[in-house]
Amino acid sequence: PMPERVTIYEVGPRDGLQNEKAVVPVAVKAEMIERLLDAGLPIIEATSFVHPKWVPQLADAAELMGLLIDRIGDAARKMPVLVPNERGLDRALDLGLEHIAVFGSATETFAAKNLNRTYDSQFEMFEPTFARAKDAGMTIRGYLSMCFGDPWEGAVEIDAVVKAGLRLLDLGADELSLGDTIGVATAGHVQAMVAAFGAVGVGPDKIGMHFHDTYGQALANTVAALQVGITTFDASAGGLGGCPYAKSATGNLATEDLLWMLQGLGIESGVDLDKVVGTSVWMAEQLGKRPASAVTRALSGV
Ligand code: HMG
Ligand code: MG
Repeated sequence: PMPERVTIYEVGPRDGLQNEKAVVPVAVKAEMIERLLDAGLPIIEATSFVHPKWVPQLADAAELMGLLIDRIGDAARKMPVLVPNERGLDRALDLGLEHIAVFGSATETFAAKNLNRTYDSQFEMFEPTFARAKDAGMTIRGYLSMCFGDPWEGAVEIDAVVKAGLRLLDLGADELSLGDTIGVATAGHVQAMVAAFGAVGVGPDKIGMHFHDTYGQALANTVAALQVGITTFDASAGGLGGCPYAKSATGNLATEDLLWMLQGLGIESGVDLDKVVGTSVWMAEQLGKRPASAVTRALSGV
């Protein structure tokens, strides 16, 4: 049986905008986030406290969060932000933020490309970050990238992903988000992954799915994940997104495409489809491009 209700974890302002060529003005980012909040998205990942030279698109993270805190207070402090290390954690703590997402790699190559670390040393970087965040009462999402394939290494063993996931959980991650960074996953692979985590005691309630739609498989993979009990799905308004350090990564599963399918299946999310479509159309105008979401194109005629 399918779940009756799911949580959509919106990553557009972070995963979406980190990959845009143009640097989006901070006021536009704030408006995007406020519109998504108004659409009912329960969790909005707002930005990243990473090195500003590595991701110049999000170099304004502190300014953005300061602006949002002034405007919406606690709702902004509750928005998760990406943090790779203690320096990022300090920046988040300075603003009184409550939720962080630490992002590791299931593969050696991507740990080097994305974090400038070896596979093992990424966990050494995370260890004090997790410990101090826990002491401060924060919750921590643990992302894993390249769970279903890596553009440099090719196939990635399910066992290797489970091992990496367990390391993040051992460090104190409250939940995992399994990233199909380059969009190569297919439905059977997704179900086998969930089963392999289940076999070591990590149930679907501890796992979110993070699908990029590069190969057009994201919705099919979502159905497969729903069938095995997953209830948290990452999505990006307008289908924006990609990772600047992952060759061939394109946009995330579009929030509107996910909402359309959930509506058809009678699965509740509490999110207003029309408001997300309106936000994506407006955001596409800001970026000077057509929205990538098929549902937004169909419903809005743009
Ligand atoms: P590094 O060069 O090894 O950093 O980069 P370092 O630890 O050697 O420090 C060098 C200098 O950077 C120091 O300054 C630090 O203070 C500073 P100095 O003492 O020389 O003056 N520094 C920082 N400044 C601001 N904020 C920080 C920070 N950290 C160090 N947080 C590092 C290592 C991890 C920082 C770098 O590799 C980095 O920022 N990487 C981020 C890459 C990224 O954001 N990628 C995209 C997000 S992941 C993703 O999209 C995948 C996901 O969507 C899931 C999926 O799809 O798979 C989540
Ligand atoms: Mg991603």
